Amino acid sequence: MTDFQTSFLSDVKSLFLQEQEENLAPYLYSTPNPDIENDPANGEGCYQELISQNLNYYLYKEEIELINNKASQIAAYVPPESNVIEFGPGTDIAFKNKSLPFLKEIKQLKSYVPVDLCQTYLDQSEEILSRELPEISVEKINTDFIKNIDLIKNFTKPVVFFKGSTITNLSTNNCLKFFERISPQLQPDGILIVGVDSNQNELSLKGAYDDGKMANLTLSILYFINRDLPVSGFDPTAFNYEFNWVAETHCVEHNVRATKDQDFILDGVPINIKSGTKFHFLSSYKYPVDYFQELAIKSGLKPLDYFVHQNERMVIHVLGVKN
Ligand SMILES: C[S@@+](CC[C@H](N)C(=O)[O-])C[C@H]1O[C@@H](n2cnc3c(N)ncnc32)[C@H](O)[C@@H]1O
Repeated sequence: MTDFQTSFLSDVKSLFLQEQEENLAPYLYSTPNPDIENDPANGEGCYQELISQNLNYYLYKEEIELINNKASQIAAYVPPESNVIEFGPGTDIAFKNKSLPFLKEIKQLKSYVPVDLCQTYLDQSEEILSRELPEISVEKINTDFIKNIDLIKNFTKPVVFFKGSTITNLSTNNCLKFFERISPQLQPDGILIVGVDSNQNELSLKGAYDDGKMANLTLSILYFINRDLPVSGFDPTAFNYEFNWVAETHCVEHNVRATKDQDFILDGVPINIKSGTKFHFLSSYKYPVDYFQELAIKSGLKPLDYFVHQNERMVIHVLGVKN
């Protein structure tokens, strides 16, 4: 088993055994197996449909606009000779429209280090960068950037670029832990540039997520489980998606509810699910600027600046370390 499959299995098992929740975000971006006709384990395709066909899904386009408008101001925080380590570059379109405009504005960039669980995304970012900025060396790392955050210490001048609001898939507690673990790695003058959605408007959040495309993306994880994990007797069709906004914790919960009783065996472990049981698969937290800065300060980071899109939802935070 690869490291990815080991983590996938352990996270899925603990979710269905109700020992953990909101831990399945890293498994959203499955790629279809070409040998399976219309393979429903196609998270990547569902994500593309979400960002391109749901006109109310503002996160993607507003972050593109924000980065393009502010790229030179954000890049001004990057020290010369830095190694820009990007956590989760995502699709080639995201790389072209978000990463590239930022990288192009950096003076004396030493290297670009994309880190992603998806090898396709890594290869695409390298291919585009070698065409657009051939003088920059690229070092791809195919790993889980949360579990292997200490990879940062292999770079002398690290600047971590973490856009796409991916950080907000972590629970608030795990976000704090992430900050606590990253701050010593950035010492003495590394920075973390991180994109966060600060939207608190339920109607617009519902428009972005509660339209069927996010449902398909979330439910694709069930087909991914059925295809790639050692499971027997599992029916991935017997679940519905449910959006839930919890204003007090700033959390959009992406829940999955069982529509029938089912018994299945996962890695030798019998699991029984009752119809109506709700599983909190993953979250998208929506942090107001002050709240997010407080989280950063609590865990050894220092807000240096932030940039807000004109619609006052998408934010890019620039965080340094406390010396
Ligand atoms: C929401 S997409 C965002 C993509 C891109 N940054 C953007 O701005 O559109 C999340 C990306 O992070 C990757 N990813 C998510 N969790 C990860 C993890 N724990 N370790 C490595 N890659 C991860 C996914 O494969 C995907 O490329």
